Amino acid sequence: LNHCVPKTRREIFETLVKGLQRLEYRGYDSAGIAVDGPKNGLKDEKNICIIKKRGKVKSLDEELYKKDQMKLDEEIETHFGIAHTRWATHGEPNAVNSHPHRSDKNNEFVVIHNGIITNYKELKKYLVLKGYEFESETDTEVIPKLIKYIYDNRESEDVSFSMLVERVIQQLEGAFALAFKSSHYPGEAVVTRRGSPLLIGVRSEYELSTQHIPIQYNNGHLKDEVQMKNNRNRSDSSCGLHSVGDGKAVEYFFASDASAIIEHTNKVIYLEDDDIAAVAEGKLSLHRMIRQAGEEPVRAIQTLQMELQQIMKGNYQAFMQKEIFEQPESIFNTMRGRICFENNTVMLGGLKDHLKEIKRCRRLIVIGCGTSFHAGVATRQILEELTELPVMVELASDFLDRITPVFRDDVCFFISQSGETADTLMALRYCKERGALTVGVTNTVGSSISRETDCGVHINAGPEIGVASTKAYTSQFVALIMFGLMMSEDRISLQKRRLEIINGLRILPELIKKVLELDSKIKTIADELYQQRSLLVMGRGFHYATCLEGALKIKEITYMHSEGILSGELKHGPLALVDNDMPVIMVIMRDSCYIKCHNALQQVTARQGRPIVLCCEDDPDVKKSAYKTIELPQTVDCLQGILSVIPLQLMSFHLAVLRGYDVDYPRNLAKSVTVE
Ligand code: G6P
Repeated sequence: LNHCVPKTRREIFETLVKGLQRLEYRGYDSAGIAVDGPKNGLKDEKNICIIKKRGKVKSLDEELYKKDQMKLDEEIETHFGIAHTRWATHGEPNAVNSHPHRSDKNNEFVVIHNGIITNYKELKKYLVLKGYEFESETDTEVIPKLIKYIYDNRESEDVSFSMLVERVIQQLEGAFALAFKSSHYPGEAVVTRRGSPLLIGVRSEYELSTQHIPIQYNNGHLKDEVQMKNNRNRSDSSCGLHSVGDGKAVEYFFASDASAIIEHTNKVIYLEDDDIAAVAEGKLSLHRMIRQAGEEPVRAIQTLQMELQQIMKGNYQAFMQKEIFEQPESIFNTMRGRICFENNTVMLGGLKDHLKEIKRCRRLIVIGCGTSFHAGVATRQILEELTELPVMVELASDFLDRITPVFRDDVCFFISQSGETADTLMALRYCKERGALTVGVTNTVGSSISRETDCGVHINAGPEIGVASTKAYTSQFVALIMFGLMMSEDRISLQKRRLEIINGLRILPELIKKVLELDSKIKTIADELYQQRSLLVMGRGFHYATCLEGALKIKEITYMHSEGILSGELKHGPLALVDNDMPVIMVIMRDSCYIKCHNALQQVTARQGRPIVLCCEDDPDVKKSAYKTIELPQTVDCLQGILSVIPLQLMSFHLAVLRGYDVDYPRNLAKSVTVE
C-alpha cells in the first residue's frame, strides 16, 4: 500500500509481481492480482480490476501488460494492490479458483487467502440461501461473500473496514492469512491471520517515532456504531503508526513471508493469531477482540537481518544445487557460537532455561514431516545413547491419527524447516494441550512453530528455497546431535564418546567439502541411470535415514520410483525386486553394521544385482563386489549420515536435470505445506 507516494499502475504491477516471484519457491499452481482500474469518469472511479492466470507468475505478468486499457502510466497517489499464488486444496488449479476472490460482479470486496476454511460448507449454504452466487469451488470464496453480506446488512453507514473484517473472522473456522481490498474503502487495507503466517513491512521516509504498535482492544464486544465512527475519525497517534503528513511518504507491505518484501524494507511487524491490521489514511492500527491474561498489548517493529542476495540463486543452475553446495557453511552456522571446542562444551541458548526440566523427562518424542522426519530417524540412535532416554520418532500426521498418548513428563521436539507445516503445528498443539514440554527445531525466525513452542533451537541454515530440502536436513541433524551432547555433559561414562563426536563436528565442514568434490563422478553415474524407472536405496543402522532421505529426494524431483529399504528387511520382501536390470544403491560404511551390510551386498550380487555402493575410502572388500563405488571420507559413526546423504542429494539433482525437470519446483509439491 502506498500513501502519498504517487505510483504508476506499471510500478504497482511490478512491485506485486516481484513479490510473488520471491515466493515462487514455495510451489504453486496459479496466480492472481487485484488493483484499482483506470479512472474513466465517476462511475469507474472505484472500480477494482482482477486478473488471474493458471500456471507460472510469468504468464500472469505477461497478461497484465497485454491489457492496454489498463493505462499503465497513470499515477495513483494512494493505492492498495493485492496478489497471490495458489496451491490448490479445494477445486482444481484454474483461473476461476485462483485468488483474489470477489464478493460480486462489481468486485466490491476482494480477498486473498492462505490456509483453509474448515466450516466453509455451512457458510456457503447460508450465503446461497441469502441469494449469493458462487463462481468457484474454493473454500475461500465464502469470505468475500460473507463480508459483503455483513456490509449490506450494516446498521449504520459509517462502519470501518476493520470492523467488518472483525465480524467476518468471528464466523471463520480453520487457518487463514487474509488481505481484503474494497471499492467502498479505496486506498485502505485490512489484513488478519489465524494459524497462517502474516507480516507487515513498513517503509517510511521518516524515522519511525515508535518501535511498538499498541493494540486496540474491543473487550469482547463489538463496538457500537457511534464508537466506531469516533474511532475512525480519531487521529490519536498513540494508537497506531502514523508517519505521514504533507508529502511525507510511507509504504506498507503485507506478506506471508519476509522474502517477498525484504528488498523494500527490513522493518517488519509479525502479526499474532486474530490480530487485525488496518491502514486508513496512511495510519496503521492493530486491533483485537479481547486482551487475554499475560498477553503483550503491543506488537514490536523488528529489524530483519536477511539479505536479498542470500535468497538469490548466484551462479548455480538451481536453488537446490546452491543449497547442496552451501552445506559446509550452513553446518558451520548451525554450530557457530554453540560448541566450545576448547573445553568441549555445547550450549544451545534457546534450551538453557529448560534444561533441568528436559533432563527430568521420561521420554523424548521427535515429530516432523518429510525430510524433517528423516532428521529425527537419523539421530534417534545417538540421542538414545547420549540421553539414555527412550526416543520415539513420529510422522506428525500419523502421530495425530493414532491419538498417541502423551504425558506431562514427555519432551516433544517439532522439527520443521519452515516452521509452518500444518501437520507438525497440529501435533505441537496436541502435545501442548497434554502438558508436555515442547521444543521447536526450525529454520525460520518468527515462524508459528518457533513462536508456539516452549523453547527451541534455530538451525541457522539460511533461507532454503528449493522445494526439496537439503541443507536444512544436515543442519537439523547437527542441531539434534548438539542437543544430545548438551544433555550428556555431566555423564562421566559418556565423556569419551562426547569428545569423539565434538572432534568429528569440528572437521565436518571440511569433510563435506571433500564429498562435494565427488560431484562430477556422481554426474557420470547419473548419466547412466537417468532413463531408468526405479532406483532402490538400501542401508541400515545410522544410514537407514540416508536411504529414506535419498529416495525421497529422487522421488520429489526426478519423478522416478524410489524406495529407501532397510537392508535388514531385504530377505522379507525387497529382494524379490532385485535382478540385473534394477538399479540399486547401497550404503555400506565402517560402523557396527558393516558385516551385516556386507551380507546384504552379497545377497544382492548373488541375484545378479549391480549395486552402486557408497562406502568409506579404501575398502577393497566392498570394491570387489560392487558394480561401482562412491568413496567417502570416514568420520564418527553417528555423523557419517551427514556425509552419506550428500551424494544422494547430488544424484537426485543430476537425474532431474538430465530428465529435463524443473529442479526447484517439482510438480504437485509445495515448499511449505500449511494445510493438513
Ligand atoms: C514439504 C516439503 C518437504 C519438507 C516437508 C516438511 O513436503 O516439500 O521438503 O521436508 O514439507 O516441511 P518442514 O518445513 O516442516 O520441514
